[in-house]
Amino acid sequence: MKFEDLREFVRVIEEKGELKRIEGADCELEIGAITELAASLKECPAVLFDSIKGFPKGYRVLTNFMNNRVRERFIFGVPMELGDREAMYYWKEKMKEFNPIAPVEAGAAPVKANVLINGEVDLFRIPWPRWHERDGGKYMCATSVVTKDPDTGYVNVGSYRFMLVNKNTVVVHIGSGHHGDVIRKRYWSKGEACPAAVSLGQEPAVLVAASANLPWGISEYGYAGWVRQCPVQVTKGEYTGLPVPATAEVVLEGDMLPPEEGMEIEGPFGEFSGYYGGGARPAPKMIIKSMLLRSDPIVLGVPPFLGASRGVLTSRGISVWNELATLGIPNVVGVNYSWGMAIISIKQAYPGHAMRAAHAVLGGTAGYHGRFVIVVDDDIDPFNLEEVFWALATRCDPETSLDVCRRIWSYKIDPRLPPDKKDAGNLTGSVAIIDACRPYHWMDKFPPTTKISEELFKKTEKEWGEMLRRG
Ligand SMILES: Cc1cc2nc3c(=O)[nH]c(=O)nc-3n(C[C@H](O)[C@H](O)[C@H](O)COP(=O)(O)O)c2cc1C
Repeated sequence: MKFEDLREFVRVIEEKGELKRIEGADCELEIGAITELAASLKECPAVLFDSIKGFPKGYRVLTNFMNNRVRERFIFGVPMELGDREAMYYWKEKMKEFNPIAPVEAGAAPVKANVLINGEVDLFRIPWPRWHERDGGKYMCATSVVTKDPDTGYVNVGSYRFMLVNKNTVVVHIGSGHHGDVIRKRYWSKGEACPAAVSLGQEPAVLVAASANLPWGISEYGYAGWVRQCPVQVTKGEYTGLPVPATAEVVLEGDMLPPEEGMEIEGPFGEFSGYYGGGARPAPKMIIKSMLLRSDPIVLGVPPFLGASRGVLTSRGISVWNELATLGIPNVVGVNYSWGMAIISIKQAYPGHAMRAAHAVLGGTAGYHGRFVIVVDDDIDPFNLEEVFWALATRCDPETSLDVCRRIWSYKIDPRLPPDKKDAGNLTGSVAIIDACRPYHWMDKFPPTTKISEELFKKTEKEWGEMLRRG
């Protein structure tokens, strides 16, 4: 859905009763703790912090902006009445129509309302929360970072966390292999700094695109334009000349310096795994050369913690599902991917189908960094964990239905990777495949379930449903 900018999104969700305003909170842990508390509530409101301690009124932080099903469906334009599995299917099918809508140069650029260059740059002007008690510093954790490949001119947008070092310096964590990392290393290999522009708050679709793990060469701006069905308006950054969202709230521009030019400790930071897996380590610095900001800016915060992600449309499940389709794995009826667990529901069509699907998850890009792949039959809803447990308990024979795959792609922040492996640079782990499907070759002899037939269910619902609901 199209929003002009983040403040229009705030206005609309407030009208829908989806927003709480909080005045006077402190960047030092209080904003983070309130965000986590709000996320633990059933309805999980978005929270807009204003009059933040030490900042003028109007300098705001917006959290929990997407982590409930209403706001997520709203941003993606997916009908509210659909259940999780149906919503995911809806968006997966929609993605087949993906046709990038290229960004356009804006006539006016509200983000340039205030332009601070070189010595005028002062990162302390905006609120940088320390989100969790063990965090090693203050962080921006929901950024949309624009870089440009020096060889091909491809413009990439990715989301990475930035830790505040001083008034014009930050350090960033970019996972190896992420496109932003590939691009910065291309500059560094030529002995150059990598120019980057970091948007700290803008129309939600840009962040959705920045974190979507799109293939190399696909424009995140084009994807964001397609999600909102309207081109993203961009303007040239004052220092980098990179295209930045014209209606952004704050953009920081500068140079990501090569590691030889000095490092700063980055971390620890409470990560999306729910742990401090990455610890604190030296990371290359970014020197901020220009700061573009609106007069009453809203910065976005998406601090990771357990329960922070309730969305299904932003989960990797849809990408896993699409990758399975690309590989020609038939009859996949649902995919739930969360916390490194991929639960795939299939209508088995041939012997070995379940294992083929499981291996395809591991061989793809979206199913990476996982720990378990569970395959269930099509009568099991992968989002209904009670049904998944039932399948595990009744259709899986541990002696013959479990496989452990070794030396699988993992990453530094994996909390279960032993320290000696991390130190040796051996970032690989193991993944268990659990086949919880009825064995294909004797499926017809598998005891039938006690569930009433769909026909009988519908008939009963028609006759008795209303009376039961009236209760
Ligand atoms: C809120 C949020 C924060 C993220 N933080 C990081 C981060 O600090 N480092 C990182 O490498 N990836 C992070 N990610 C994941 C990347 O943004 C994602 O994998 C993205 O597709 C990488 O883009 P790229 O391959 O174009 O560089 C984050 C994602 C979200 C949604």
